[in-house]
Amino acid sequence: MIPQIKTIEEYHQQYTQSIEHPETFWAGIAEHFEWKQKWTQVLEWNFTEPKVKWFGSGKLNITENCLDRHQTTRRNQTAIIWEPNNPGDKSRHISYGELFELVQQFANVLIQQGVKKGDRICIYLPMVPEAVVAMLACARVGAIHSVVFAGFSSQSLADRINDAECKLLITADGMIRGEKKVELKQIADEAMQLSPCVERCIVFNHKSFTVQMQAGRDLWWNDLMAAASPLHEAESMDSEDPLFILYTSGSTGKPKGVLHTTAGYMVYAAYTFKNVFQYQDQDVFCCTADIGWVTGHTYIVYGPLLNGAVTLMFEGIPSYPDTGRFWSLIEKHKVNYFYTAPTAIRSLQLHGEEPFKGKDLSSLKVLGTVGEPINEEAWHWYHQNAGKGNCPIVDTWWQTETGGILISPLAGITLLKPAYATLPLPGVQPVLVDEKGNEISGNGVEGNLCIKFPWPGIARSLYGDHERFRSMYFSTYPNLYFTGDGCKRDEDGYYRITGRVDDVINVSGHRIGTGEVEDAIDEHGYVVESAVVAFPHEIKGQGIYAFVICDRNVPDEEVLRSEIRNHVSKMIGAFARPDKIQMVNALPKTRSGKIMRRILRKIAEGDTSNLGDISTLIDPLVIDAIKAGAENLNG
Ligand code: WTA
Repeated sequence: MIPQIKTIEEYHQQYTQSIEHPETFWAGIAEHFEWKQKWTQVLEWNFTEPKVKWFGSGKLNITENCLDRHQTTRRNQTAIIWEPNNPGDKSRHISYGELFELVQQFANVLIQQGVKKGDRICIYLPMVPEAVVAMLACARVGAIHSVVFAGFSSQSLADRINDAECKLLITADGMIRGEKKVELKQIADEAMQLSPCVERCIVFNHKSFTVQMQAGRDLWWNDLMAAASPLHEAESMDSEDPLFILYTSGSTGKPKGVLHTTAGYMVYAAYTFKNVFQYQDQDVFCCTADIGWVTGHTYIVYGPLLNGAVTLMFEGIPSYPDTGRFWSLIEKHKVNYFYTAPTAIRSLQLHGEEPFKGKDLSSLKVLGTVGEPINEEAWHWYHQNAGKGNCPIVDTWWQTETGGILISPLAGITLLKPAYATLPLPGVQPVLVDEKGNEISGNGVEGNLCIKFPWPGIARSLYGDHERFRSMYFSTYPNLYFTGDGCKRDEDGYYRITGRVDDVINVSGHRIGTGEVEDAIDEHGYVVESAVVAFPHEIKGQGIYAFVICDRNVPDEEVLRSEIRNHVSKMIGAFARPDKIQMVNALPKTRSGKIMRRILRKIAEGDTSNLGDISTLIDPLVIDAIKAGAENLNG
């Protein structure tokens, strides 16, 4: 059993030990896993190349820790509860025994299809247990999974497949979320037109939509499974062998494939799950994230299964068939831990207390949030209405790159402060730095958040581009991992994340690079140049505001706006559609040609009283025109 901190004194004591003797501390946690061969060196690292190796020379397979080791004690215990989009359809309960068998079978399917250790496999599936089976089967044979969120467009899917040169794609006929039907196979077909590296496509029949199957390339999941043996011995993996790639957005360029490796990620996912949520055996854990994001990877799949937990997978959305769906789900499955995003809380807050009426939420012990800063009002509303004032809220701060939670209360142990992620977990050494990179010490301060020592779950690289990895995260401040987030440390030493300080926009917890949206907008025939910034949005946290220059008279601005939005949907996905589009004649630029985003951000926020220093602009008059246009647009 992975150790669990029980008191705040124990937390402080372990924290100190983890900083003074990190290797002893993490070796003590790693001992609680199954190894085919023990490590010889706990940690080797530098943040200049950068190079990080945890549990060097160890051999293991993460799925033996998720599945095999639970067979003697939990064969009949539920591993996954699946709640479908339509509450009238049957939910599924899959035991550890059944999951083990499915994963072994699918591992054999992969091998039959020629998959070898180190191959990349793309998974583009709805929120169904088969997505978990596919991920674990990849890990079992030593292939690297790259899950792509099923809300991405065919172009985005193709970009991700091509970047990692995936030879196999696993998808489904389609899905229905809320009332929206999504033809996944059709999108996958379009993507494969652009991705010649895909040799095979395995299709899971979820909804019996009509699909086209290309002979020699496309195969049905069920046919392959029916013919596959349910016995498969897990491949022996090195601690530092890649486990998965997950694409995420940065301030510049195309989305990047964050690479996580086996042992460090495993130890960190399991440890943080058990400690942050204070998970107790047999309890039901529900994380509402999608499996296509890191939260789904770590806290729907790996963290819970490594702990032998019951993990609930919800296919639907919070507003279908009504805005009480989350609360019905909790009541129906007697959920004990509920982990969701602030954006979902804010959208439900609008519907008041009515949706809670008559629902028994007494099973709840702990609430969690992730993905974006939570405002105090939403925090209190969640605490009062979902938690009835009795459940601690863990406001968990972390990132795709960190593999697991870094700063968070331990449920029921850490004294809470609304909207604060509170304290770093053992092994995590946050520092705040000023613009020049000087460390800001003491409390009651604010700066850019960096981490100065590796924890086991830190990403090791960007797939195929280690130099970009170095320059994105380790070059801004020498010898520090830079998170891209701004942060306050208050008088009590508690951390509060204030949001991104780079050009990443966080829309409903989805990370979107301004550059990606600009590239998509610029492809429209009328558009010469665009600049995209965030503005505060009541529900989404941040919305997307695009300033667009056109090279000709626009006959109908509304038509153009909707064309631009549709094009962004096509290139990225519907979640990246700009909320506001303002046509402008020019953008505020410095003499060196750089767009002054700071000014555009202020205008988008509707706060133009003090635009700061504009003396470096080539043409300060540009600003008056943009201000006037913004007032017009926003009424
Ligand atoms: C933001 C999601 C405030 C932050 C796990 C980070 C948060 C980005 C919190 C990573 C939180 C995540 N409070 N902000 N509790 N959690 N963020 O990679 O800006 O999708 O850098 O990982 O989300 O988003 P990502």
